Order: sequence, then structure tokens, then C-alpha cells
Amino acid sequence: MSNLMSKPITIWLTGATSGIGYALAEGLLKDGHHLIATGRREEPLRELAKLAPDRLTPALGDTTNKEDLDRIGAVLDQHQPVQMAILNAGTCEYLDVAKYDSEVIEKNIVTNVIGTSRSVEAVLPFLRAARSQGLAARLVIVSSSAWWFPFGRAEGYGASKAALTYFAHSLRADLAAEGIEVTVVSPGFVKTPLTDQNDFDMPFLITAEDATNRIIKGLNKGQSEIHFPKRFTWTLKLLGALPQGLIDRMAAAMTRKNNEQQEDNK
Ligand SMILES: NC(=O)c1ccc[n+]([C@@H]2O[C@H](COP(=O)([O-])OP(=O)(O)OC[C@H]3O[C@@H](n4cnc5c(N)ncnc54)[C@H](OP(=O)(O)O)[C@@H]3O)[C@@H](O)[C@H]2O)c1
Repeated sequence: MSNLMSKPITIWLTGATSGIGYALAEGLLKDGHHLIATGRREEPLRELAKLAPDRLTPALGDTTNKEDLDRIGAVLDQHQPVQMAILNAGTCEYLDVAKYDSEVIEKNIVTNVIGTSRSVEAVLPFLRAARSQGLAARLVIVSSSAWWFPFGRAEGYGASKAALTYFAHSLRADLAAEGIEVTVVSPGFVKTPLTDQNDFDMPFLITAEDATNRIIKGLNKGQSEIHFPKRFTWTLKLLGALPQGLIDRMAAAMTRKNNEQQEDNK
């Protein structure tokens, strides 16, 4: 398929109010694209709109809420053709196993899996409409590489991103016949308000601007899998190929070390 980003297109971006999404919005606007930008907070959307008032339409809403998504759908309708959706809204809640609470798991799953699947429901008719006009269309799902290794405390986050990646790959198989392409983005650690809460070492941490450049570069090339930084993601892939018993011992040792570090920091 031709590079659909070689000229300005209309893109729906969720999670645009912070971190990777905010930096992505800045980068995509710089490249001349039109954005429908979603998040629950109004102020950052207003700030973004100042960068290109004629090319950024704020579409306030919660991606887990069907009524909000219906309203956002009406905004997308007014801005057709919509050729790309970047579903980036997400959360990361850690489990304290000493105070095991299944709500932590639920929060990750609801935002990261259910919210994204409802967002797909909202945008799919518009991607299909673009295809019916002979235009290229792509769905981009921001997952994570975190689930490639069993990190302690990440039961909920890792499970949600593993589910999300499977969801995206399965969707890719189903949408192939319609010519709608699906890209999965799997970042390593990126410095954002989401990771600012982390009290452990984050190897190969990169900035949101660096992450944005890598995502836009991958999208410009029409890549179906974008993962970075490679030093981190290839290491995780290699570790993932080890026997499970060895992975379990490494994961337990890493978790023990992180817990000790946190105790020392108290
Ligand atoms: N930072 C990393 O190291 C890293 C690594 C791998 C993957 N990721 C993934 O990258 C994505 C962006 O993360 P980030 O680090 O940029 O986090 P962030 O700074 O916390 O941003 C999260 C974004 O998601 C939005 N959001 C959360 N829940 C929402 C909901 N229910 N409805 C609508 N918007 C919602 C937030 O907007 P509002 O609060 O305004 O709603 C915000 O714009 C996430 O999917 C995350 O899992 C991040």
C-alpha cells in the first residue's frame, strides 16, 4: 500500500492530553496532518489546539464510555475522510501483592482493553468509508513491550497489554480482506507522567519526543509492528526465548531486588 502519510490526512488520536500522545499530536501537526484529539482533560486539548487551530479539533471524552464515544463519532463524521486512528489512551496501575486487590487488574483491563475495543467500534465505520472511496486506512494500537517479560507488580498492566496485542493481531487478520491495515506499537520505557510514578530503575528510558519520532517514522514506512528502543525490546525478545524456569528465576530475583531497593529508599 502507498504511504498514506506522504500527504496530510485526518487522524483520530486518543490519549492526546499527556505524555506520548501529546508529543505525537505535536509531531503530527508539524507534519501537516489534521487531528481529532481525545482525552478526558479539556485544558491540554485547548493548548494543543493553539498550535494549529484550523487543523486540531478537540473531542473531549472517556474512551471507556459509550456515550462519549457516540459524541466523538459525530465529530469524526464531520471530518471525513478519517484515514487513521491512533488508539493510545491507556493507564498503568501496579499491584501490591501483599494487599492483593483485583480492582487493580480491572482498572488496567477496562481502560487498556475495553476502552480501546470501544474506540475501534467508534472509528471502524469511518475507516471503512475511507476504503470505500479507494483511500488507504490504518488502525494504530499503542500496546507495550512490558508484557514480554513477567515483571513483578505488573500483573494487571501486563495482562491488559498482552490481551490488547492479541486483540490487535486478530483484528489485523480479520480486516486484511478490507484493506484496513493494523499497526501495533510496543514501546519500552518512555518518560511521561505515567512512568514518573515508577520507583524502580527504567533501563533505556527515552523521551516522549524520541518515542514520537520513532512512531511517526514507522508509520511513514507503513510498518505493522513498531517497537523501541531496540536495545530494550530485542533484549526482552531474547529473554522471552529462554526456558520458562529460567525466566521465572530471573523475574523473581529482579522483583526481590526492586523490593529491597524500595525498602532502602523509604
Ligand atoms: N510511558 C511508557 O513507558 C509506556 C511504555 C509502553 C507503553 N505505553 C503506552 O503508551 C500510552 C500512552 O502512555 P503515556 O506514557 O503517554 O501515559 P500518560 O502520560 O499517562 O498518558 C495517558 C493518556 O491516556 C489518556 N487516557 C487515560 N485513560 C483514558 C480514558 N479512560 N479515556 C480517555 N483518555 C484516557 C490520558 O488522558 P486524560 O487523563 O486526559 O483522559 C492521557 O492523555 C499508553 O497506552 C501506555 O500504556 C507507555
